[in-house]
Amino acid sequence: GAPVEVDISTLNPGEMKTVEWRGKPVWIIKRTPEMVASLKKTDGKVADADSKRNPEEFTPEYARNEWRSRKPDILIAVGICTHLGCSPSSKFTPGPQPSLPDDWEGGFLCPCHGSTFDMAGRVFKNKPAPDNLQVPRHMYLSDTKLVIG
Ligand code: FES
Repeated sequence: GAPVEVDISTLNPGEMKTVEWRGKPVWIIKRTPEMVASLKKTDGKVADADSKRNPEEFTPEYARNEWRSRKPDILIAVGICTHLGCSPSSKFTPGPQPSLPDDWEGGFLCPCHGSTFDMAGRVFKNKPAPDNLQVPRHMYLSDTKLVIG
């Protein structure tokens, strides 16, 4: 599939947009400072905090950091659960919600078998999904333009 160019100039903090790449949904999320800070709190609760599992497939070298991204505020991830391929829903609001722990910091919930992911797409411990959400290859052309693929 061809690379996809995305304009993120209108994306505000706390918002996400979805584009299609190779028939898959790719999320672009502009994280708020609180969302970025939440990653420190989920560090000890996720199964693969440093994205060491299958890095070639799931996390390009430039995203093997605490944000899983090139820029701390922008997360780019394939919106497909690494368990059996359902589409997780965004649950950005911290705090108690149905099917989520009381200390929820924001992230994603897969409706199929309950895997949860933090604001960097890192899967929480003891969930059926074996891997973090995939960060696709991408690069920035400018502050507001990026290419996926
Ligand atoms: Fe997401 Fe099973 S497909 S938890």
